[in-house]
Amino acid sequence: MCGIVAYTGSRPALPVLLSGLKRLEYRGYDSSGIAVETPDKIAVRKAKGKVSELVNLLDSDEGALDQSTCGIAHTRWATHGPPTTENAHPHAGGKNGIALVHNGIIENHRALRQKLEGEGYIFLSETDTEVLAHLVDSKYEGSLVDAITSALGEVEGTYGLAAVAHAEPGKLVVARRGSPIVIGLGENETIVASDASAIIKYTRQAIYLDDNDIACICGSDLDIRSLGSGAVSRATSEIDWSADAAEKGGYEHYMLKEIFEQPESIRNTLRGRMDADRGNAILSGLNLSPRELADLYRVLIVGCGTSMNAGLVGEYAIEDFAGVLAEVEQAAEFRYRNPIIKSSDLVVAISQSGETADTLAAVREAIDKGALVSGLVNTVGSTIARETGRGIYLHAGPEISVASTKAFTSQVSVLLMMALKFARSRRMSREEGRQMVREIKAIPELVERTLAQNDHIAKVAERYLDCTSAFFIGRGYLYPVALEGALKLKEISYIHAEGYHAAELKHGPIALLEASVPVIALCNKGPGQDKTLGNVAECQARDSRVLGIVTEGDTEAMAAVDDYIEVPDCPLHTAVVPSTVALQLLSYHIARLRGCAIDQPRNLAKSVTVE
Ligand code: AGP
Repeated sequence: MCGIVAYTGSRPALPVLLSGLKRLEYRGYDSSGIAVETPDKIAVRKAKGKVSELVNLLDSDEGALDQSTCGIAHTRWATHGPPTTENAHPHAGGKNGIALVHNGIIENHRALRQKLEGEGYIFLSETDTEVLAHLVDSKYEGSLVDAITSALGEVEGTYGLAAVAHAEPGKLVVARRGSPIVIGLGENETIVASDASAIIKYTRQAIYLDDNDIACICGSDLDIRSLGSGAVSRATSEIDWSADAAEKGGYEHYMLKEIFEQPESIRNTLRGRMDADRGNAILSGLNLSPRELADLYRVLIVGCGTSMNAGLVGEYAIEDFAGVLAEVEQAAEFRYRNPIIKSSDLVVAISQSGETADTLAAVREAIDKGALVSGLVNTVGSTIARETGRGIYLHAGPEISVASTKAFTSQVSVLLMMALKFARSRRMSREEGRQMVREIKAIPELVERTLAQNDHIAKVAERYLDCTSAFFIGRGYLYPVALEGALKLKEISYIHAEGYHAAELKHGPIALLEASVPVIALCNKGPGQDKTLGNVAECQARDSRVLGIVTEGDTEAMAAVDDYIEVPDCPLHTAVVPSTVALQLLSYHIARLRGCAIDQPRNLAKSVTVE
């Protein structure tokens, strides 16, 4: 949601803070601010809108803050109180020259606010974060880390925070519970952020705080404690992707770059995990013995948004190939409905960011109910990755665009490998396994051939950019593709779109079809294609224009639709990937032609770390 950057060391703090905020802007943005130490006070500057507004404000300071070597900064995605300068972070703590930035939600902020108002504190904002700042201030007796430790003992909810105090120059205090904080270790300096992408310009040596950790930092001196249990040490890990990997690489948008990265990102996902000889997948991160695999009764897949759509492909593949019961569920639904979970269940939590609050809560619910839990995550060191204790990293590289693309195709690739692994621990023969290995290893090349259609897809997009609403339909493995295609179109072009099972349209939604409402139909060759082509005719009889995703060379399907995009001929379980890539490009070009924001759509954030 929001972004945190903090710095203490020997160089001017402002350039480090501002470049970090720019890097984090994709996570969520409606305002931003900085607080830096100056000889006579902690100077705070805040601005509504994008980080560029804050930069303009700072330019008017004419360098007054340029000498500071310690400070904190924040980009905000509003949760409590509208996007205003007053609600922007940092928030100052009343009397003791304290400033604080915070990600997460303080759930008991109302009661704390009343208590602090009773102690004479005046609030300038509607935020829960200002409550935290004043609470820390009310505990301050000369030690910021002790004041924060004491304040956090009264806090219910989640936080990732960074704070400074005028009386303790050069010192940063950071803490986390439920919202990530990564500490970048430099030469005589330390850079802290809520996301590693803001620190890799300066260092690749990183420490990821655990929940309830609190760290006191001065220059490169670092002291980490765990609330309630004293000093702890945390492992230092190497951030393995480069700064330019997170750059646009010459593309107009991060989304287009990430769509075109997919042959490579999928190869990275598959690398070292396909055993062609034994016809199996090597998923050591699952950390399940052949016995545990063979005894698995059910696989429960939880996630949100695109990750949930990928999970649906996994459900079909695991049941199809392994004969293991599999179910996918929206994580928020799973966490609150008291699900029936057995110790023989494997819960797979799918999350690109590894920080989605509902998915993390579903993981914790599954752990509390005794299930085996595994993560399927892209962001190394993220909370879900660490709390599941076992899992499979996507290795898809940083996904900057809010609309998820390469994460989806890597998630599907991993889920196909999981289905293969489960199947080979049961009835699938080595030869059948070898065939499936060949099919999965062919996916990157299928994507390359689909990407070659980009110019054609851009042309087709011109015929659909003025529609008021759209339906995406598919069956079997192509039903999740319809859901994902609809999600892409609506979140970046703002055109209302719904994904439906092809058979479901005539049970009501078909009433909405008319000339201004096109249908995008997954008409790939394979089981169910004839039925879907029948649904296409039903849509055309209601004046809807139909764009078909068709198998290369399938002239019958081409003749049945008004426009088509060809994808390579392959089994339906792998056709999911090139078909989705075609719809990613379709949505991208429609949004581009409509002049939409694409990488940072209105109202959206890359990682939804609140309920
Ligand atoms: C997908 O394009 C969206 N940005 C959103 O649905 C996303 O997939 C969802 O919020 C889950 O995020 P996660 O994979 O990081 O958990």
